[in-house]
Amino acid sequence: MLAPDENMSLTAQEAVDGALTSRRSVRAFLPHRVDEQTIRDILRVAARAPSGANMQPWKVYVVSGSKKEKLSSAILSSGVRPEKITWDEYKYYPDQFFEPYQTRRRAVGFALYNLLGIGRREVDRMRAQHDRNFTFFDAPVGLIFTIDRRLNKGSWVDLGMFIQSVMVAARARDLHTCPQAAFAPYHREIKPVLDIPQEEIIVCGMALGYEDVSKPENQLRSERAPLEEFVSFVR
Ligand SMILES: Cc1cc2nc3c(=O)[nH]c(=O)nc-3n(C[C@H](O)[C@H](O)[C@H](O)COP(=O)(O)O)c2cc1C
Repeated sequence: MLAPDENMSLTAQEAVDGALTSRRSVRAFLPHRVDEQTIRDILRVAARAPSGANMQPWKVYVVSGSKKEKLSSAILSSGVRPEKITWDEYKYYPDQFFEPYQTRRRAVGFALYNLLGIGRREVDRMRAQHDRNFTFFDAPVGLIFTIDRRLNKGSWVDLGMFIQSVMVAARARDLHTCPQAAFAPYHREIKPVLDIPQEEIIVCGMALGYEDVSKPENQLRSERAPLEEFVSFVR
C-alpha cells in the first residue's frame, strides 16, 4: 500500500479505495510474525465500526504460536469431517443454493481449484485444501470472532462491519486476511481450547499475516457482478 511515488502522498480517496480494493482472501501466508502492537492497532481502529445503539457486539480471540497449533490440532484430530458436520449454531449458507448465488459460488470454487491444479473429481485434494482453513492457511495469527447468542440479527450486521474493518485496517499495514466461516461448526472443538463461554456463538475465524506471493492460490481474483445486477437508482 505504498504511494506510487515516495514523495507523493496518497489522497484519502486513493488510500481508502486502495485498502478496500486490495482486500482479497489470501490462502497462503509467510511465517513472518505480526507484532502484537500492530494487531492491537488494527483491532482498535476496526472497533470504530458503527453499531446499533453503540452496542459494539463484537468479541474476538487472537491466537498465535502454540495456542494456534493446539486449536488446529483440536479440529483436525477431531475426526469430524467438514462435509459431514452440522451447522448447529447458525447456518451461513442456504440449505439449497439458487441463482444467481449457485453460479457465483461455483465460479470462485472452480477458479481456486484450477489455480491449484485440482481436477473436478479429485475429492481428496479438495478436502486437503479445505483443511488448510484449520491451520489458518499457515498465517501466524488467527482470529476467532464471536457474538453473544442473545443478540439479534441487527448485532450480526454490526459484527460484519467490524470484521470488514479489521480486513481493511490490515491492508493499510501491508497485511492480508482470509475470513473463515469454516471454523463456525467446530465450536465444540474450539471453545475449550480458547475458553470461550457457552453464551457466545463462534461466527467465523480469520487468518492474518503476510501474503506468500509465490503460491498459486493467491493469484485468485474473484469476480464481482456489475452495478446493474444489484443497484436500483429509484427516481
Ligand atoms: C464471513 C466469510 C466467511 C468466509 N469463509 C471462508 C472460509 O471458511 N474459507 C475460505 O477459504 N474462504 C472463506 N471466505 C472467503 C470467500 O470465499 C471470499 O470472500 C469470496 O470468494 C470473494 O473473494 P475475495 O475475498 O478474494 O474478494 C469467507 C468470506 C466471508 C465474508
